[in-house]
Amino acid sequence: MNVEGDKMTITAVQARAYLHHLAIESSDPERLANFYAVAMDMDADRVSDTEWHAEGPRRRIVAVKGQDKTLNYAGFAVKDSDSLAGLKAHAKEQSVEVLESPSPYFETGAFAVRDPDGNLICLGLAKADKAQSKGRHAPVQHLTLASTDVRAMMEFYTGKMGFQLTDTVMDEGDEMKTFFSTSNHEHHTIACFQTSTQGIDHHCYEVGQWTHIRDFCDHWASKDIKIIWGPGRHGPGNNLFAFINDPDGNKIEISAELEVIHDRGAGVWPQAEKTLNLWGKGIIRT
Ligand SMILES: [Fe+2]
Repeated sequence: MNVEGDKMTITAVQARAYLHHLAIESSDPERLANFYAVAMDMDADRVSDTEWHAEGPRRRIVAVKGQDKTLNYAGFAVKDSDSLAGLKAHAKEQSVEVLESPSPYFETGAFAVRDPDGNLICLGLAKADKAQSKGRHAPVQHLTLASTDVRAMMEFYTGKMGFQLTDTVMDEGDEMKTFFSTSNHEHHTIACFQTSTQGIDHHCYEVGQWTHIRDFCDHWASKDIKIIWGPGRHGPGNNLFAFINDPDGNKIEISAELEVIHDRGAGVWPQAEKTLNLWGKGIIRT
C-alpha cells in the first residue's frame, strides 16, 4: 500500500478483485444469450433491442449487438469501497486514464480502464444479485486475452494495475508467449496469449470438482453441444478443463482444481504441448 497525495493506493490483489461478468459483442445477441442459458444453465432476458443478459448463480454474460467474438467489456468486482477508491488511486498514480464504467452490474462509483490493446476493464462494487433459481455451480472465474504484444499486456496488468504474475510461458528464443496473473487467491484471473490477433481467447467458469466437469459434459451431450478440447489438465494452474464453442466461436472453458496461490513466486514454463495439456493434445496459439 502506498500513499498518493493523501490517498492510499491499493493493488488489484489487495482489492481481492474477481471476475464478475463479461460483455461480449455479437451480430445476434439474442441467440448468444440463449445459448449461454442452455449451455451454462443460466436465464436469458431481453434488456433492449441491442442487449440481452444471461444470468446464473455467480455468473453473468451481457450479449450486446456488435461484432462477433469481440469483448465489449469485462467487469471485475472488488471487496469493498476502500479497495475501490484505493485501486482507482493506484491507476491514477500509474498514469492510467480513469474512465466511466458502462456496467449495469456495478454500484455508482465504478470506473474503467483500457489495457494497451484497448480492452475495457470495469472495476466496481457488485450490486446484489437478483434472487436466482438453483443452478449448477459454475462461477465465472477468468478471462484469457489474445494479443500481438503479450509483454506490454503483462506490464499493464501487473505493473500498472497491481495483478500478481503467477506463471509465464517462454519460447526457445526467450520470447514471452503467455502470462498468467491473479488479483486474489486464484492462480489466474487474467491471462494473455501471444497471437497474430487481439481480443478474447476464452473465458472460464470454475466448477470446483472433476465430477462437475463430468456433469457439464453430460449436460452438453444432452443438448448436442460438442467438446472442442479436453478433458485435460493444464500445466500452469494445474486445472482440469473442457472447452466448447458458443455459436459465434467464442471459446468457453469449464475448469476444476485451479491452483490456489499462497506464497510462491512466478514460474516459467516452456512453449510446449505439455504445458497446455499435461494429458494430451495441446492447442498452441499462433
Ligand atoms: Fe483458461
